[in-house]
This record gives sequence, structure tokens and C-alpha cells, in this order.
Amino acid sequence: MTAEQPTSRAAQAPQSPAAIGLVPSILSADFSRLGEQVREAEEAGVQRIQIDVMDGHFVPNITMGPLIVEAVRRSTSLPLEAHLMITNPEYYIEAFARAGADVIIVHQETCPHLHRIVQQIKEAGKQAGVALNPSSPVWLLEDILSLLDLVLIMTVNPGFGGQEFIPETLPKIARLRQQLTERQLHCDLEVDGGINEHTAPLVVRAGANLLVAGSAVYNGRESVAAAVERLRRALALT
Ligand code: DX5
Repeated sequence: MTAEQPTSRAAQAPQSPAAIGLVPSILSADFSRLGEQVREAEEAGVQRIQIDVMDGHFVPNITMGPLIVEAVRRSTSLPLEAHLMITNPEYYIEAFARAGADVIIVHQETCPHLHRIVQQIKEAGKQAGVALNPSSPVWLLEDILSLLDLVLIMTVNPGFGGQEFIPETLPKIARLRQQLTERQLHCDLEVDGGINEHTAPLVVRAGANLLVAGSAVYNGRESVAAAVERLRRALALT
């Protein structure tokens, strides 16, 4: 990818709801039957799967590593996102690449040498994404945006599923969408946290084209297929 290339779908605010990608986060899945839960999501027509990697240091929770990425890789052909909520992600890029992640997302807040880490992800042959906590402004990425395949706007403070959506993140999503459109950058705008049938239309109107959803997809009250259909119906009204 070269910088400042004219348009792609991501460069212009997505028009049709069908163009919006759904990305279940397995953090809320039933881990006693993880492979099955991933396949249920694939059969329900989602676009990717996100794996939330937490180290109990950058965020107050400990979750999963490359071994889980490998297990999910064996369960689906969908693109996998490894969302690294860890300090010193530079030590683990190759391990997540070998495990089968297609997109590796690091947090801007943990990377003083972000340009070097983005290069490292690309040299591993993977797509590079950068995540921003709710309090981190989008201008922090201004000088590296043209190198990114994805920006992840956290719409909750990272660390847990099932949290309330933070509405103050909506203008931030719109600012990033405007910058991507003005600079005609080919970069996905993804959001993560508190996404459900009520908040999904709000983030899409603001400019998001990929929606991560954990507890809205894996909620134990309904099948994964019914949960995904519920989100799709809400998006159809956008
Ligand atoms: C939180 C994770 C999210 C989380 C989303 O730190 O990054 O992916 O699993 O869960 P919900 O959709 O339930 O907020």
C-alpha cells in the first residue's frame, strides 16, 4: 500500500449497511466450545473474528495468547484480528503472525516507537492496525495514518466485555472519518466496545466501517445467528 492513494470503500463513508463489517470478539464466547462458537459466527455471515489479548499490565485483565489464535485459525478461514492490549507488543509480533493472525493491532499508548512496530508488522506480512483508548485523540496518528491498514477506536476503556458504550467517542470517530476521506486514505475505521443494536447505527453514521461486538453476539440468550441477524437488522435502518 502506498500513501495517499485515491479512494477505496474505506476512504468514503460506507454507504450501504451491507458494506459494514461485523467482527465478533471471542472474549464473550463459551471457551469450553470455542471452535464451535467461531464456526457459528462464520456461518452467520460475519466478516472477521477478533481475539482480545490482555496481559494484566496494560489492562486490568489477563486473557489469551498465540495458542488461542492458533486454535481459532484451525476453526475458520475468516480473517483474524489479534488486538494486543499488552505492553511491549514488539516482542510478540512474530509469534502472533506465526499463529495465524491476519491483522495485528497494537495500542498507541504502549508504543513509543510506533512507526518501527508498524514496519515490523508489515515485514511479518500482516496488516497493521493501531488502537486508541477513549481518552487518546486521533491527531496522535496524523503522521502515521497513511501507513496503517486499520485504526481501532475504543468505545469503552479496554479490559472487559459487556461495558457501557462511551458516547463521547462519536465525534472522535467522525473526525477520523473526515481525515481519512480528505486524505483519500485506504484504511479501515473499526470501533470496539458496547456495540449493540442501539449503538451500531450511531457509530456507522459517524463513519465506522468495521464493528467489533462481543456480548451482543455471544450473549447466551439467543443463538449467534439470531444475534448477528439482530445487528444486521439494526444496521439496515441506518
Ligand atoms: C475490551 C475488548 C472488546 C470487548 C468487546 O477491551 O477489546 O473487544 O470484548 O465486548 P463488548 O462488545 O461486550 O463490549
